[in-house]
Amino acid sequence: MGINNIAIAIDGPAAAGKSTIAKKVANHYNFVYIDTGAMYRAFTWYVLKRGVDPKDETASNSLIPEVTIRLTADYKVFVNGEDVSKAIREPSVSGNVSYIASYPKIRLFLTEQQREMAKVNSVVMDGRDIGTYVLPDAFVKIFQTASVAVRAKRRYLENLEKGIATSLEDIEKELAMRDHIDSTRAMAPLKKADDAIELDTDNLSIDEVVAEIIKIVDKKLGVK
Ligand code: DC
Repeated sequence: MGINNIAIAIDGPAAAGKSTIAKKVANHYNFVYIDTGAMYRAFTWYVLKRGVDPKDETASNSLIPEVTIRLTADYKVFVNGEDVSKAIREPSVSGNVSYIASYPKIRLFLTEQQREMAKVNSVVMDGRDIGTYVLPDAFVKIFQTASVAVRAKRRYLENLEKGIATSLEDIEKELAMRDHIDSTRAMAPLKKADDAIELDTDNLSIDEVVAEIIKIVDKKLGVK
């Protein structure tokens, strides 16, 4: 524990396939997978549930003391004991999460929890600001990208699988809007860390991306 823990940071824009890939990399090394986007989504879900306008920063901040988020080993997300794993993928949450993620007080609240998790476990953490802000000393930093068209198609298929009905066109619009808000916000915007390795995944399969990341990590670990 502690000093010997290893962190792999995977950042990039929305729907670049980070979570699927991060889970596989985590399984390979037996590390804990931490989906930080799910934490911002969970907070957003709670804001909406309480009938608060996500565009109201002060009102959203005021809910911080009421929110306890728990991520489980089987990738479930709980808010105050309620399983919100599916609800946080609904369009109402996706369409509002970038507002919530732009509020510094909420970011600090969630960042502290993310750092704590990385202190007690070896982790693969995916998000937007892991390599730049949450874990600047991460052992390996990956910046995973893909074009909006490819990402929209991936998210569309993912939603279909989860039984969430959305149109490809709406997803493309939402992704472009989220990317814009996420990369232009004042605090910890979406940005490649100087020491991150960029992987453009437009023409790579999931397994190819996973293999590439494992190769990078193994090399750094000195594994042959
Ligand atoms: O990865 P995702 O699409 O589930 O993330 C949802 C939103 O949360 C995303 O639009 C931006 C925000 N986010 C963030 O600001 N910082 C993170 N580390 C992770 C997600």
